[in-house]
Amino acid sequence: MIEFRQVYKSFEEQQVLNDISFTIDRGETKVILGESGSGKSTILKLILGLIRPDSGKILIDGRDITRMSERDLVSIRRDIGMVFQEGALFDSMSVRENVGYRLSEEGKMDEDEIEAAVLRHLGFVGLEEAIDKMPSELSGGMKRRVGIARALVGAPKVVLYDEPTAGLDPITKRTIVELMIKLRDTEGVTSVFVTHDLHAASIMATEYAVTAQNGAIEFKSGKYEAGLANVNFIMLQDASICFEGRYEELMGSSLPYVETFVS
Ligand SMILES: Nc1ncnc2c1ncn2[C@@H]1O[C@H](COP(=O)(O)OP(=O)(O)O)[C@@H](O)[C@H]1O
Ligand SMILES: [Mg+2]
Repeated sequence: MIEFRQVYKSFEEQQVLNDISFTIDRGETKVILGESGSGKSTILKLILGLIRPDSGKILIDGRDITRMSERDLVSIRRDIGMVFQEGALFDSMSVRENVGYRLSEEGKMDEDEIEAAVLRHLGFVGLEEAIDKMPSELSGGMKRRVGIARALVGAPKVVLYDEPTAGLDPITKRTIVELMIKLRDTEGVTSVFVTHDLHAASIMATEYAVTAQNGAIEFKSGKYEAGLANVNFIMLQDASICFEGRYEELMGSSLPYVETFVS
């Protein structure tokens, strides 16, 4: 679904990505770890074609976007949902308008269809009752959930999350990660989860969602070795990938970052 081939990116004198290669399969979740300034958001911007690599290739769903025209990039971006840190809602718009914005802009649906889509996605994040609220009336966690609903409204094949749990209390953080797990396990989306929060990433790798007989979603924690979730990790350090592998391998590694977390 996503492939980086020997990607290099510098800003002025600073080399931010130095020979980065990886692939993300359909349905896979790739967690990208790394400290602040390590190039995580830069990778997301490259996937969206908002910036271009200095060299190397980036393929999305088999298409090389490296030198693609802005017009063709618009159609690539249509299949990608982006969840920003802080939710990044438009403050002057209601929740309904925020979530429906992309559909209104596209102009392909009438108002009733947009309303139905907005309600369905707010239902997915458990916030139907907030539809008439303004962002200023929402808690931090609710804003993130609205941000997720907004990212999902165009039925994207890929969802990119940029530090979706940053600054949240543990309970709210859990709610957000559970939503991400639900999306992964019930909708099968491909996702890129950028974070420096190893705890949130651990939940993502060790828990899974199942639909119970009554239709409710249940979260179970289990061994990821069971192959229930296709989650893989990359860690960035000094512009390079210093680790690539599965959760158990990450936890068994001697990376200082991981050892601090485990202890
Ligand atoms: N547009 C830009 N111009 C100049 N420097 C940038 C730009 N975008 C990012 N950087 C620099 O690149 C490095 C990596 O940034 P970023 O990808 O945002 O890191 P992260 O998301 O891991 O915190 C940082 O040192 C940042 O200052
Ligand atoms: Mg960032």
